[in-house]
Amino acid sequence: MRHGFMVKHWSRIGVLAFGALGCALSATVSAEEVNVYSARKEALIQPILERFTEETGIEVNLITGKADALLKRLEVEGDASPADLFVTVDAGRLHRAKQAGVLQPVTSDVLAKRVPENLKDAENYWYGLSQRARTIFYRKETVNPADLSTYEALADPRWKGKICMRSSSNIYNQSLVASLIEADGIEVTENWVKGLVANFARPPAGGDTDLLLAVAAGACELTLANTYYYGRLLGSDDAKQTAAAAKVGVFWPNQAEGQRGVHVNVSGAGLTRYAQHKESAIKLMEFLVSDEAQAWYAETNNEYPVVAGVERSDVLSTLGTFRADPIALNRLGENNRAAVELMDRAGWK
Ligand SMILES: [Fe+2]
Repeated sequence: MRHGFMVKHWSRIGVLAFGALGCALSATVSAEEVNVYSARKEALIQPILERFTEETGIEVNLITGKADALLKRLEVEGDASPADLFVTVDAGRLHRAKQAGVLQPVTSDVLAKRVPENLKDAENYWYGLSQRARTIFYRKETVNPADLSTYEALADPRWKGKICMRSSSNIYNQSLVASLIEADGIEVTENWVKGLVANFARPPAGGDTDLLLAVAAGACELTLANTYYYGRLLGSDDAKQTAAAAKVGVFWPNQAEGQRGVHVNVSGAGLTRYAQHKESAIKLMEFLVSDEAQAWYAETNNEYPVVAGVERSDVLSTLGTFRADPIALNRLGENNRAAVELMDRAGWK
């Protein structure tokens, strides 16, 4: 029953390129296809998968869904899962997939050469495909960026009642706190969260876009958000959104000499433990770090490429450059539990 449901929802990308013949062939030549579970929305990944099919003749069947639901599905399906590749966002989530036992390590010269060491799992269970920074956004009208410095300084009482923040149930904030635990230790980070919570303008609510709009509207003066949400507002066709973006400034924290840099995270992919089309899936992972795929992926999602030297999007170029925290991202996953417990103790709802 479940199998029938699943097949109906496969989006047959290969069919678009190869028509009925490709479709008929795939029933018998199953090696030339790859099945992808993606927590990225279809529009953010399908066109580049189509390019992969054009170049290699390998069909890609895509199922998209919510990140946590897809992971659960992989766990429940076990060795009966048709998925070969799991694509999701946040190193914390990629680590959860590794811990859940639904991935297997991949050894690939291409991936080893192109994906920086700190943007992949230390044991090769997943690789980053694109980067995003979680940085400080401020209300231009009321905040002097000269008064901003580090994530740590957001706990200063000078910002009392001025910070809007997303819920601690959100993985992005969990990963940020995990990076602070790595840099400052549990005790210092717990005190930091207490100070931050004391500065909240209102109880945590909404997504990153809501927070940026709240800053623009003056509901609060500071927030943390991922760069692509701001990029989306800036590049929007909706004049209201671009006007809101114009009221919000971006600030890169922890840039001074000796400081660790801006918190970055990734979207990424891992080969599933029971992949039936292992070779094709690895080819797809390698394609996703090619110059072409990296440039497209970054441009379309307003994200930063993981591969050095690939151009960033026009929108992101306007934000300027920053130095990123070089932490090995698997540490975000390894510190996740401590981060969640700490946020809970410190009252970050
Ligand atoms: Fe997001």
